Parts: sequence; C-alpha cells; structure tokens
Amino acid sequence: MPGIDRDVDGMENGSSHFKAEENHMKHVRAWMVGGTVLALAGLVWVTGQGFAGDDEKEKAQHAQILKIAAALKTNKAEGIKMAAAMAKKVEFLEGVMHGFKPRKRGGFGVGKDAGVITPDGIELKINQMQRDGITATALGKEAGALEDLAYITAAIGEVTKHFENKDFGKGKKTKKDWIEHSDRMIEGSLKLAAAAKAKGAADIKSAAKYINDSCNACHSTFRE
Ligand code: HEC
Repeated sequence: MPGIDRDVDGMENGSSHFKAEENHMKHVRAWMVGGTVLALAGLVWVTGQGFAGDDEKEKAQHAQILKIAAALKTNKAEGIKMAAAMAKKVEFLEGVMHGFKPRKRGGFGVGKDAGVITPDGIELKINQMQRDGITATALGKEAGALEDLAYITAAIGEVTKHFENKDFGKGKKTKKDWIEHSDRMIEGSLKLAAAAKAKGAADIKSAAKYINDSCNACHSTFRE
C-alpha cells in the first residue's frame, strides 16, 4: 500500500489535557483533602497510569489516521468507511486534533522526517500557506509532503465528521453545522492535495485558506 510514512511511536505525547485525565485529577484531589501519605502514593500511581494509557491510545489513533489518509488517496470510499469505524471508538476528539500540532509536541509534522520543512506542524503550515502562499522553490521541495499533509488533514476531517459530539443540540452546537464545517475541511483538503500534486501555487494558497476558515468556523462554536 502506498502508505504515508511517519514514525508514530517516536512522536512524543504532548497532549496532557485529556478530559479523562482531568477527571482522574479531580478524584485524586478529593483524596488529597484527606491528606494521607497513602493518597500521595496514590497520586503518583494513578497519574502515572493515566499518562501511559492516554499516550498509547493517542499513538494508536494517529497510526490509524495515517492508514485512513493512505486509503483516501487510493480508495476514497474505503477511507471514509475506515474513518466512520474509527470515529465510533473515539471518546474525546482532542487526541485526534492533537495530530495538527508540531511534531515535537506530538503532532504528525510535515514530511516524513523532522527538521526538513518548517514549520513542522500541519496547523502552522496551513496557516503559513494561506497567509504567504508558497514559493516555487519551496513547492519544488515540498509538493509530496504537502500532498501527504492534505490527505492526513482529510482523514482527520472524516473522523471528525463521523464523531458523535456529546454537545450536539446544546445552544448553537448543532450536528448540522458540525457536519458542514467537517465537509468544508475535507473538501479544502482534497483541493489542497490536488493543487500540491499539480504544483499549482495559487491553488495551494486558496485551498489552504479554505481549510483554515473551516477550522476557525468550527472552533468558534464547538471548541471550549
Ligand atoms: C467540525 C469541527 C472541527 C473542525 C472542522 C476542526 N476542529 Fe479542531 N477541534 C475541534 C474541537 C471540538 C476541539 C476540542 C477537542 C477537545 O478538547 O476535546 C478541537 C481542538 C483542536 C486542537 C487542540 C488539540 C489539543 O491537543 O489540545 C487543535 C490543534 C485543532 N483542533 C486544530 C484544528 C485544525 C488545524 C483544523 C483544520 C484543519 C481543525 N482543528 C478543524 C473541532 C474541530
């Protein structure tokens, strides 16, 4: 399979804000009020377990996102099916979204290897391209990496689209809007993939803006 290479195991886990973990901490703090040494020992043990579990979960999620990205590239229907199946098992979207962060903070990064393309994070790179466009020199070097970036973003978009947000129906947080934002994110990503493949700098810039607008639109309503 023409996979998208990334050293997921080597990615550091920068996501220390899992909600499950926060809940853990609340319980732990409740014990702490008791002020026993036993509670302190418990704190070390419980948080240790918490971090290890979430780290492994996020790595597995990121590995699956790469598989979905590769599938979307060659067999879109299959990629969508995989994303829908994955979304059912995702408890919190944060670990999935975390893939957009810089590689050194636990995200996918841009390109197979670290230290080649800057910025080395998908979100920052999309931002840079929608703001500054891309030079012919950079495009010559980065086109392949940008195509991968686009399919990874589309894969995250598909998982997001199928994610059943527990906040649906609360105030302005409608499922309809969620799907619309996700669809725009996916559509922009596929435009970016095509533009990168065709090495069209102007189309890359407009696709990056289209994606960026979808991220912001969704976050302004749904991200707390
Ligand atoms: C359909 C809605 C939606 C779209 C589209 C969306 N996001 Fe998010 N994003 C969220 C939500 C909801 C959260 C908060 C998740 C949580 O904390 O549980 C989030 C969180 C994040 C985070 C924080 C993750 C962390 O580790 O704390 C990043 C980074 C992020 N999104 C980047 C992006 C980028 C980049 C795009 C566009 C390419 C995007 N998002 C598109 C809904 C969306």
